Amino acid sequence: MCGIVGYIGHREAYPIIIKGLKRLEYRGYDSAGIALYDGTDIKLSKTKGKVADLEKRLEKEISTTGTLGIGHTRWATHGVPNDVNSHPHYSNSGDLVIIHNGIIENYESLKKELIKRGYTFKSDTDTEVLVNLIEDVKKNENTKLGKAVQIALNQVVGAYAIAVFDKNKPNEIVVARLGSPLAIGIGEDEFFIASDASPFIEYTKNAIYLEDEEMAIVRRHKGIKIRKIKDDSLVAPYIQELQLNLEQIEKGGYEHFMLKEIYEQPSAILDTFRGRLLSNEAIIKMVGVEDNMKKFLNANRIIIVACGTSWHAGLVAEYIFEDLARIPVEVEYASEFRYRNPIINENDVVIAISQSGETADTLAAIKLAKSKGAFVFGVCNVVGSSIARETHAGAYTHAGPEIGVASTKAFTTQITVLTLIALRLARAKGTISSSDYRMHLLELELIPEKVKTALESDAYVKTVAAIYKDAKNFLYLGRGYNFPVALEGALKLKEISYIHAEGYPAAEMKHGPIALIDENMPIVVIATKKGHYEKVVSNIQEIKSRSGKIIGIVTVGDEQVKNLADHVIEVPETIESLTPLLTTIPLQLLSYHIALMLGKNVDQPRNLAKAVTVE
Ligand code: M6R
Repeated sequence: MCGIVGYIGHREAYPIIIKGLKRLEYRGYDSAGIALYDGTDIKLSKTKGKVADLEKRLEKEISTTGTLGIGHTRWATHGVPNDVNSHPHYSNSGDLVIIHNGIIENYESLKKELIKRGYTFKSDTDTEVLVNLIEDVKKNENTKLGKAVQIALNQVVGAYAIAVFDKNKPNEIVVARLGSPLAIGIGEDEFFIASDASPFIEYTKNAIYLEDEEMAIVRRHKGIKIRKIKDDSLVAPYIQELQLNLEQIEKGGYEHFMLKEIYEQPSAILDTFRGRLLSNEAIIKMVGVEDNMKKFLNANRIIIVACGTSWHAGLVAEYIFEDLARIPVEVEYASEFRYRNPIINENDVVIAISQSGETADTLAAIKLAKSKGAFVFGVCNVVGSSIARETHAGAYTHAGPEIGVASTKAFTTQITVLTLIALRLARAKGTISSSDYRMHLLELELIPEKVKTALESDAYVKTVAAIYKDAKNFLYLGRGYNFPVALEGALKLKEISYIHAEGYPAAEMKHGPIALIDENMPIVVIATKKGHYEKVVSNIQEIKSRSGKIIGIVTVGDEQVKNLADHVIEVPETIESLTPLLTTIPLQLLSYHIALMLGKNVDQPRNLAKAVTVE
């Protein structure tokens, strides 16, 4: 996945593009580049590394003047991250220049054809093939750039969001989208192009999100023309008013986005249930659920599809749905589900969970489920994202932008939405008593304050982090609702500190992982009072007798685990189904502090990207 930015208008393009690329680095940050039209020619600079590296190099290399430009921050798919493979890419004549987010799957066969026709290639990328294909079409068909892009894209198999311009027609940028997001910001006599709206939020609140298989010719003075790539039909532009503000995408005094986002969880959870949970009237109101109540109530089962942290939220939801609403649930990795010919039909409800709403595997799983007649409900954070638009109905998590690559507030707000749905269905089905239902609503309302209390453990978690930061392996154990939290805790540690960590159901430990335990193995055990407390205490005893180092996540006031564990981190008491919303907090903080102490890039860990829009 990559981030793309473009500008055409009356301002200097360079500062807008550089700032925009920095905001899009969550999408990829192994190389970056920029191409500006300075009034006579294209000036291009690109480098392996981050946007800051580009910035350092660029001002020495090229003039940064010009009111038309495109920029790219890359997460490599074809070709290793190096200067040559970085975007933008020129066509052979040097007239065209392109940026691309996505994958051209048939690039090898296209490349062979182009080589036969005399084209040469500097990079290993699919993108350089695409820009030369466009040039080839433009020459052979003697057409304008827009038409050439359209004809070329009709020969392409794969996914793309592209922006391309021609130095001989420096009054337009041609953009197109299939499977990768592309937003166009509309200002006064100026246009912005980006993978999401964050690069242009301070300039305009009006944006068009291109749909799949659409392209647009963006002309500074003549406006935008949108067409369907396949059949050339014109599309009426739908201009949306953006709700995003600048403060939401900045660090607000925190050292890292991840820390900011961890601390935002009380308000993010509150925003997620605000207006949906009316505890005085004992009502849960969610339009997407109400409008499709029959589908949910008649469902034979619910299938949850997701990846990574969102998959862990799905596992928590499995417990909640089965426990409260008595609906059978299966939780599937979207990447497996999409390729294994699953048995699914119109009596199934599929819930797709995704923070970004752009995860390629989840999107493909949704399309597959829809093709088999299932009703698909989305739980997304990014408004207007591909998954939000591809699903039949859905509910947003109102977490606000999540920029740190490691998901934190997305996880807890996903659980919040899924809990609301489970409670609403349980009420409709009569599988929960009215007193139990009310009690759940009241407890959920208390969660934001309790998350605040859980965050107070931060300083102590930091001292624990200092003790174990050099460990080579970690185990995370939990049972019931907290088994997925153990998986999530291990994932957080792995992805930002690069320490090997595994999550296990606590009772599974004796079937293998127990062999790993010795005095060098830190084991994080979630042992809250509600749930399978006594059983987990027995598991802790098993660890203790093998000299493992125990970090217990316990309910405030716990004495039993305190006597056994090397360290305990307390969280407030709540009902069992809501404990994941609290026990997750110290695990996020633990991974954050360890990664920081090891000098890792917390917000942009190696090899990762915020939204994985490739298979
Ligand atoms: O945007 P999504 O929720 O669909 O993303 C799914 C995973 O890629 C994501 O949760 C990933 O595992 C995170 N880096 C975890 O912190």
